[in-house]
Amino acid sequence: MPGNNHKSRTSNKVMTLFVCFLAALAGLLFGLDIGVIAGALPFIAKDFNVTAHQQEWIVSSMMFGAAVGAVGSGWMSSRLGRKKSLMAGAILFVIGSLWSAGATSPEMLIAARVVLGLAVGVASYTAPLYLSEIAPEKIRGSMISLYQLMITIGILAAYLSDTAFSDAGAWRWMLGIITIPAVLLLVGVFFLPNSPRWLAAKGDFRSAERVLSRLRDTSEQAKRELDEIRESLKIKQSGWQLFQSNSNFRRAVFLGVLLQVMQQFTGMNVIMYYAPKIFEIAGFANTTQQMWGTVIVGLVNVLATFIAIGLVDRWGRKPTLLLGFLVMALGMGILGTMLHIGIHSQEAQYFAVAMLLMFIIGFAMSAGPLIWVLCSEIQPLKGRDFGITVSTATNWIANMIVGATFLTMLNTLGNAPTFWVYAGLNVFFILLTLALIPETKNVSLEHIERNLMSGKKLRDIGQK
Ligand code: BGC
Repeated sequence: MPGNNHKSRTSNKVMTLFVCFLAALAGLLFGLDIGVIAGALPFIAKDFNVTAHQQEWIVSSMMFGAAVGAVGSGWMSSRLGRKKSLMAGAILFVIGSLWSAGATSPEMLIAARVVLGLAVGVASYTAPLYLSEIAPEKIRGSMISLYQLMITIGILAAYLSDTAFSDAGAWRWMLGIITIPAVLLLVGVFFLPNSPRWLAAKGDFRSAERVLSRLRDTSEQAKRELDEIRESLKIKQSGWQLFQSNSNFRRAVFLGVLLQVMQQFTGMNVIMYYAPKIFEIAGFANTTQQMWGTVIVGLVNVLATFIAIGLVDRWGRKPTLLLGFLVMALGMGILGTMLHIGIHSQEAQYFAVAMLLMFIIGFAMSAGPLIWVLCSEIQPLKGRDFGITVSTATNWIANMIVGATFLTMLNTLGNAPTFWVYAGLNVFFILLTLALIPETKNVSLEHIERNLMSGKKLRDIGQK
């Protein structure tokens, strides 16, 4: 009956949207936990009377947990499945949020942030994987940039909530309020179907077909996709063996590591974690000004991500990255020079903020989303899980190093040279991009894989 058919198509669409929304909620939590510490840190520092070094650990303990979580979830999501992994992640989000809000010492807060980190690590590996396995082909490509968009929205939401609680200096509320979206995620994940690809990999083709027929418009579509999954499962994942035996695969893993190191050493998270501190260095003494400045940083980060979404498939990855690194180098370099000369007038203060925002635009339009896109494109099918686990863990380790060294750099090198170091790194990344990074626009993943495995230079593996 056509009426019934229409009804079931609509309900399948609603189901798919619901599933995508939930996976996006994991991205939002990732962003909330990255963003929340910037506004909470000054109050935590005052309450616990902690040193700069301890503050760095409060910030970066989460990244340590996330690196461990990303590696562990590679194993967990293939053993227990993506759904149970996400559930474990959501439970850790709830525990970590409550525990950090109730921490009675800096050590306890650091431990609670390691737990939150585990949650973020699980989310950052499993959610995009689950999404790519469950989303219809038509929207799979844009999913990674959209996922990055959710991260930036999470960061902005955290900055806003920090600002709302900052008058009262209520850092426990800032950290604790994240329990609400975490509980929502937990409840939502409960209703999620298992990933059809994972079910098929476990040999349960009947359940895989049942899930697909609830998510696709027609049963023919569901059948066709199941056939494709069956076909792709013939390629067994053997990442570690491949890594040991094949130097071309080692080059892809190296490229993934390099890309993530480049993303983190742009210095983006220095601003994400220490934005109020940077506003203070730029001469904004009042906490309200610092908090609102931080909110503007978060908003610009969200908006500029749309530039990337628009450019990535038109301009391509490489020109967008080159422009992004150039803009970031200029932003950091000029900011450093202004700090060196001294910021004495209000005009100079606003100009410094403009440079900070220019840096944010440079990151959000390029390295933010594009590094994730490239990392998911360059790994050969057989070693995909392994390659992406290694690059995701690298993201968090590099993130931790940046978070754990910023205040020490300010104290030992001084304000201006610290910003110059990051400006210099961004210039170096322009050269690295020219020398090593491939353009992967409009080429199929199979083609990239063939080029890589036939020994073509890394920068040429996207050539037709
Ligand atoms: C990075 C995070 C960063 C965020 C900022 C992500 O792509 O991996 O480290 O905090 O972008 O928007």
